[in-house]
Amino acid sequence: MTEEKDPTSGLPETLSWQGGRPGYVRMVEQTLLPGEFTELEVKSVDQMVDAIYRLAVRGAPAIGVATAYGVLLGIQDLVGRTAADVMDAFAGTCSKLERARPTAVNLFWALERMTECAQAKVSEGASGDEIVGALFDKAMAIHASDKDTCQRMGAHGAELIKDGARVLTHCNAGSLATGGIGTALAPIYEATRQGKSVKVYADETRPLLQGARLTSWELAQGGVDVTLITDNTAGWVMREGRIDMVIVGSDRIARNGDVCNKIGTYSVAVLAREHGIPFFVVAPLSTFDMTLEDGSRIPIEERPAEEVTEPMGQRIAPEGCQVYSPAFDVTPARLVSGIVTEVGVIHSPTTAAAEAAFKQAGLEIPELVTPGEIKGSKAMG
Ligand code: MRU
Repeated sequence: MTEEKDPTSGLPETLSWQGGRPGYVRMVEQTLLPGEFTELEVKSVDQMVDAIYRLAVRGAPAIGVATAYGVLLGIQDLVGRTAADVMDAFAGTCSKLERARPTAVNLFWALERMTECAQAKVSEGASGDEIVGALFDKAMAIHASDKDTCQRMGAHGAELIKDGARVLTHCNAGSLATGGIGTALAPIYEATRQGKSVKVYADETRPLLQGARLTSWELAQGGVDVTLITDNTAGWVMREGRIDMVIVGSDRIARNGDVCNKIGTYSVAVLAREHGIPFFVVAPLSTFDMTLEDGSRIPIEERPAEEVTEPMGQRIAPEGCQVYSPAFDVTPARLVSGIVTEVGVIHSPTTAAAEAAFKQAGLEIPELVTPGEIKGSKAMG
């Protein structure tokens, strides 16, 4: 164990609201990292939808925060208008945002929290300005609570990390993917802060290279020992005995504990099981979709063929080559050793254990939905 130092102290703020009302969102332009560190100013809901779709802002919790801010961008100019006018603009804004990306349930979670807030004000007989004011407070609260949730997941997850641990991660589930210090990387940051020695192997994460471009960048910024590997090296480093545990994030977790995350996560989970390596997921309760019994119906985003055939603008496959590019996959709960949430670790996740975590957090458990009502299905075209 070494002396305490906070590896997150120098990390940039992934996104933030600037100014009051009216204001705008400043965010790190993640598509240009690590070559260029640029911040984008997002000033309209259309720009926000574009930023989410292009992955300028990405990662489930950060998408949730961006969505809440996107709602504000769509309604902030309605000054002195009726409640009905504000609610019309609100509905139009939400329907644009819900089409941005389909899989990360945090986007829909944020829209639900904003909708509950607006509807509560309407039923109190509030004016248009009062509704907009309440939505501003709600969006700021969503961001603040995401920061706090990341810290709490970090503390719970750090208990699982032994001094000297070698951890494999996939995609980027760090500060760049949240409004705080991350999900999967939060326990690594916290364990490092506590003075434990932690070594990370980061999968490069084809096709958009979030592991290579973002995880290896942000961990290095924080002074964490990180080694980049190609995706197809994961099995071999396990076989070589270099990995003690896997820690990943998630975009959506079904009620039974099936975990949807970046494409390639399922392969890592299967490899971990073969090698007897624990496979942990770190995700806030806002990433659980309790309306889905299991992971089989989670809408899986498909990305354009060019992201595979021309990564970083460099053609690597013949013109007209057929491509199948799902952006996410689903790891069955039986391969998951535990899910670290803000209220603690759900070991060997099951429906009963997920329900117990929701009860412990004082959250209502929603009804299961029919296929047509699945969150994200509208974004699938
Ligand atoms: O396509 P992306 O970059 O948005 O995918 C991100 C991931 O898959 C992350 O692992 C997940 O959102 C968890 S982030 C804290």
